Amino acid sequence: PQRITTRTLQRMARDGQRISMLTAYDYPTAQVLDESGIDVLLVGDSLAMVVQGHETTLPVTMDQMIYHAEMVGRAARRAMVVVDLPFPEGQLSIENSLQCGARVLKETECHAVKLEGGAEQSERIGALVTAGIPVMAHVGLRPQNVLVDGGYRVQKDTDRLVKDALAAESAGAFCVLIECVSREIGKAITDAVSVPTIGIGAGPDTNGQVLVTNDLIGLTSGYLPKFVRQMADVRGTIRKAVTDYRDAIDDGSFPGKKETF
Ligand code: KIV
Ligand code: NA
Repeated sequence: PQRITTRTLQRMARDGQRISMLTAYDYPTAQVLDESGIDVLLVGDSLAMVVQGHETTLPVTMDQMIYHAEMVGRAARRAMVVVDLPFPEGQLSIENSLQCGARVLKETECHAVKLEGGAEQSERIGALVTAGIPVMAHVGLRPQNVLVDGGYRVQKDTDRLVKDALAAESAGAFCVLIECVSREIGKAITDAVSVPTIGIGAGPDTNGQVLVTNDLIGLTSGYLPKFVRQMADVRGTIRKAVTDYRDAIDDGSFPGKKETF
């Protein structure tokens, strides 16, 4: 299959073709998402929460991101693969962010980085793009700011959010991800910029949609944000297979004739 690139995404947005994006953290999951026609895979720092079991995205390290990016990059044949710069690699010096972006391109088979922030990240985005590292900007709710913000909530400052997206575009970002804003703000940003927008909790008017795969397939335990649509119950499926296995051992029916040499 032909690889999705920054240009493919720009063409899709221009033609009104919606972009699909999901998170991926390992080889088999990335493989099935890629085979299913998901356009963009994100090795999100959400892996701190959904894979590592942490309370926030803050603890995951650059080395751990690279480890997961290797697996996802190896699996994806068609999808473009984007890797989050984890806290605080997108907040330290620009030189440091360049080193991290270069590691993504040199050590994994992934194609771009994602960086939280808008206007205040212009210079950093420009430096990365100048160095040949494509950047997806992430505006609106910024999970790496959770301790400063005192929690996660819908972002409301329309003017600032539109300015953030415009600044990211001017700096050279190929795409703007928008998290947790009203439908009106999702649309205002999408109308304002000429690069594709991809929303999570940003309404139906962005050029694409992204969710955390574990939330989508019902592998996350506990709280799900309002913007998630859970389309399967993989936890339930695994639980049934595992309890059936345990019961079959217990009652002596496993292994049977077919599973015995
Ligand atoms: O880390 C992540 O999964 C993300 C998505 C929620 C967009 O940044
Ligand atoms: Na993230």
